Amino acid sequence: MKILAFESSCDETSVSILHDDVILANLISTQDFHTLYGGVVPELSSRAHIQRINPLLRDALSAAKCSLEDIDIVAATAGPGLIGALMIGLLFAKGLAFSINKPFIPVNHIEGHIFSPFLMAEKPKFPLLCLMVSGGHSLLFYVKSFTELQLLGTTVDDAAGESFDKVAKLIGLGYPGGPKIQKLALQGKDDALSFPVATVKGKYDYSFSGLKTSVLRYIQKLKNSKIELDEQTTADIAKAFQQSVVDALLRKTELAIQDFAPASLTLVGGVAANSALRNAFQELGNKHSTPTYIPSLEFCGDNAAMIAFRAKTLADAGKSFSLDYEPFPSFRSEFIVEA
Ligand code: KG4
Ligand code: ZN
Repeated sequence: MKILAFESSCDETSVSILHDDVILANLISTQDFHTLYGGVVPELSSRAHIQRINPLLRDALSAAKCSLEDIDIVAATAGPGLIGALMIGLLFAKGLAFSINKPFIPVNHIEGHIFSPFLMAEKPKFPLLCLMVSGGHSLLFYVKSFTELQLLGTTVDDAAGESFDKVAKLIGLGYPGGPKIQKLALQGKDDALSFPVATVKGKYDYSFSGLKTSVLRYIQKLKNSKIELDEQTTADIAKAFQQSVVDALLRKTELAIQDFAPASLTLVGGVAANSALRNAFQELGNKHSTPTYIPSLEFCGDNAAMIAFRAKTLADAGKSFSLDYEPFPSFRSEFIVEA
């Protein structure tokens, strides 16, 4: 079975072709120009998706050495994400599915991330505990199967990636903040600074907006004392901030490991590219003797291979969808189950 999938929820246009378990193509075009504006500009994102989607499709077909006649299913991200951006990929995929008379599968972007570790050679086992950290979401799931997701916790304010992006802006690094903070943090001194991890009421919930405020206050304090925010101080801030985010995420993950004793641990989403988080997450898995799976960098950020794989699991589960399926901006899932 060959699945052609499109991802266009934010600032990556991606097209992938999956043949059973083999990725024949996974092309990702990142819209770097948003750096100029300090964040993603939705209207410009939609326009760039329109320009890039057709050439990417042609390149993906050529990389996979196949033609549209070989495609069995067409899939696309339906949400959550920027509504205009989502509409480009979704409508393009629907039109294509209609024209080649093949089934269309709308895919939930978060579910795409959740199952992204299955793209790797070593596959996790159910039930698994999944920490999903991206620019828009920080979610902790207990995943019993491909169609049973128990949502344990979420952020009560900013998402983890969002806090990286906001703090990067505060210390003058620009967008996207995550990779820039990670790089600068390497030059930070150990224990030069520390920022507190917020206490949150929900057992598995997170909060990152207080941390951002602590960084802001620290910078203001330096300014008031006429102390220059030099390169070393900026690196120390980056390191301490990154450590606090990692501590906050792992603290809640550890509570859930103790309560649920999952068969596997997974770390997914754009922030899963962070090396400090990857190392600490792997150590946490080792500490609890729980096999731990973190996708390679290509599958942490937004990509259509994870959308194709999620579509495959839905097709295997016998799900079918109408061409009337609408895009949706915020997280929801028909596969959420109660404890
Ligand atoms: O999953 P993703 O590509 O898009 C969404 O679905 O949101 O995640 C993007 C987020 C951005 O906030 C970006 O700053 C963050 O992932 N990110 C990182 C790193 N690489 C990307 N955060 C921390 N460290 C990184 N190395
Ligand atoms: Zn994403």
